[in-house]
Amino acid sequence: MKRKDLLGIKDLSKSELNEILQSANAMRETIDRRERLTTLAGKQIATLFFENSTRTRNSFDMAAKKTGAQSTGMSASTSSVQKGETLIDTGKTLDAIGFDAIVIRHPASGAPRVLAENVKASVVNAGDGMNEHPTQALLDVLTAKRHFGDIAGLKIVIVGDIKHSRVARSDVLAFTKLGAEVTVCAPYTLMPVGFDGMGAKVETDFDKAIEGANVVMALRLQLERMDQAYFPSIAEYHKYYGVTSKRMLRAADDAVIMHPAPINRGAEVSGEAADGENSLIYEQPTNGVAVRMAVLDYLLGGAK
Ligand code: CP
Repeated sequence: MKRKDLLGIKDLSKSELNEILQSANAMRETIDRRERLTTLAGKQIATLFFENSTRTRNSFDMAAKKTGAQSTGMSASTSSVQKGETLIDTGKTLDAIGFDAIVIRHPASGAPRVLAENVKASVVNAGDGMNEHPTQALLDVLTAKRHFGDIAGLKIVIVGDIKHSRVARSDVLAFTKLGAEVTVCAPYTLMPVGFDGMGAKVETDFDKAIEGANVVMALRLQLERMDQAYFPSIAEYHKYYGVTSKRMLRAADDAVIMHPAPINRGAEVSGEAADGENSLIYEQPTNGVAVRMAVLDYLLGGAK
């Protein structure tokens, strides 16, 4: 076991990031060869999701299968939290049942850390409120690294709903630790304070921010977290902040488009751009499985 939990990119050193990425790249090669590993045979993984998910949950399930582990899914509606049990009591029960790892997604920032401090099982943060989504950042970095070869020196622009995005936080931390130059871009209403302190440049004009970028990462408008109107209409948002083939002409010649998804086509990205030749959007979920295989292996100590 290299560390007990993965709660955020904030906690990882550059060498830990590189070690996980190197392992994830090797895992990706096993996926491409359609191999199944047995390195985590006998390990039991619980996925405890208190928010919707398509990619992350299925990706952890697939990662468990591909490493020989078994995963058991629980959701807020089927867990005893619905009956009034605390998250800590649920966690202690999962410990006692014999789970080696708990993968948790929760609307409250910090919930995975509270769980980790109270259970013996490894805890993996699969997204907590507006805080972090570390495995998404790892898969985003892996996708860029596999495409460009190195992260250091890349110009990354992250555009969209920065305010509500746990992906933006984890991505900025991961890409800057590895030497990329990151710019976050959003209308004033969707730009929180503090990103410059994390090492990112802050820009509200997307046409300026995209200039010369190698990676253009669009983020989802998190309408479910918006309690007021942050922009006049989706059409206006798309006009000024949408990733389109025309706007991509301002980026570097080798620029690629990424998006953690789910995508709102015609809002964050035009359909044409999302499906274009320079889109890596459908490469990201495959790398997500590889990253989660590597993370489970890192935490649970699978044989190499
Ligand atoms: N990117 C991401 O976290 O997707 P899901 O919400 O589908 O898990």
